[in-house]
Amino acid sequence: MAALGPTPFWSLLLLLAGGGCAARWAGEGTNRHLRTIFLGRCQEYLELLSLEQRDKNCTAIWEAFSVVLDKDPCSVLPSDYDLFINLSRHSIPRDKSLFWENNHLLVTSYSENARRLMPLCDVLYGRVGDFLSWCRQKNASGLDYESCPTAADCENNPVDSYWKRASIQYSRDSSGVIYVMLNGSDPNGAYPVKGFFADYEIPFLQKDKITRIEVWVMHDIGRPNVESCGEGTVKILENRLKDMGFQFSCINDYLPVKLLACVDHSSHPDCALNS
Ligand SMILES: *[C@@H]1O[C@H](CO)[C@@H](O)[C@H](O)[C@H]1NC(C)=O
Ligand SMILES: *[C@@H]1O[C@H](CO)[C@@H](O)[C@H](O)[C@H]1NC(C)=O
Ligand SMILES: *[C@@H]1O[C@H](CO)[C@@H](O)[C@H](O)[C@H]1NC(C)=O
Ligand SMILES: *[C@@H]1O[C@H](CO)[C@@H](O)[C@H](O)[C@H]1NC(C)=O
Repeated sequence: MAALGPTPFWSLLLLLAGGGCAARWAGEGTNRHLRTIFLGRCQEYLELLSLEQRDKNCTAIWEAFSVVLDKDPCSVLPSDYDLFINLSRHSIPRDKSLFWENNHLLVTSYSENARRLMPLCDVLYGRVGDFLSWCRQKNASGLDYESCPTAADCENNPVDSYWKRASIQYSRDSSGVIYVMLNGSDPNGAYPVKGFFADYEIPFLQKDKITRIEVWVMHDIGRPNVESCGEGTVKILENRLKDMGFQFSCINDYLPVKLLACVDHSSHPDCALNS
């Protein structure tokens, strides 16, 4: 009889047992300096607002936000952030909204800290949580610094519910020309048909305040071109927005953003400046 080797099932048990320090959830744990970063970002952001809009209390905004840190990490709803949004909300200048999927860093560079455009991460209520993670421990008070749930763990997790609530507000408050930056090199398609833009932004756009929607499909320099304007999921987006009655246009590799991406690829042929 052959020696009993470890079966896959046995290996899995070993993995679980040995993984006593394995994270409970799939997401990053709470940032160690969450409160300090939040308050610092809030205070610094207020300098960007007009005098009339600057009259906000970052301590009160933090207190409204932090109610979710007392809740079970799988029982936080978008509406738990209502008071936080109410206290931090400010207007978004006309023609300055920039929606996006799958190109966070390029959006951050291009927006220039709200000087050029004002994506959600350059609005006070989006800025304070940008790139951060937070959650209470599953079965105890106190924060979980090891891991926090993502959508794969449970839908009503603190971070996703925050972005849902913030996205809805951002959409409602956007007006004029709406810009959308998509990633045409993403193997899953440029427009995620399920995602924050599709599910928590498009449905909340206020048609009577919006003049037109302009989509930029950006391709990574030197990477495969998966989708362009008029193709695949971009076509799905175009049809959806047109059916809703929006005036729609689409630009491949919108030049100002492409020039910015080219800063890191200046010798690549796609970045050659033709005279
Ligand atoms: C800001 O809010 C905090 C917490 O609610 C409060 O204690 C403080 O008095 C407020 N500060 C001002 C200037 O209103
Ligand atoms: C916050 O809520 C109060 C009371 O409901 C409302 O009057 C106020 O306009 C809200 N502020 C913002 C900025 O939404
Ligand atoms: C576009 O998507 C690809 C594939 O997911 C990713 O590697 C790349 O970093 C993204 N581009 C930008 C500008 O974020
Ligand atoms: C979780 O909380 C319940 C109810 O308070 C308690 O009975 C249980 O022992 C706790 N489980 C763990 C793993 O801490």
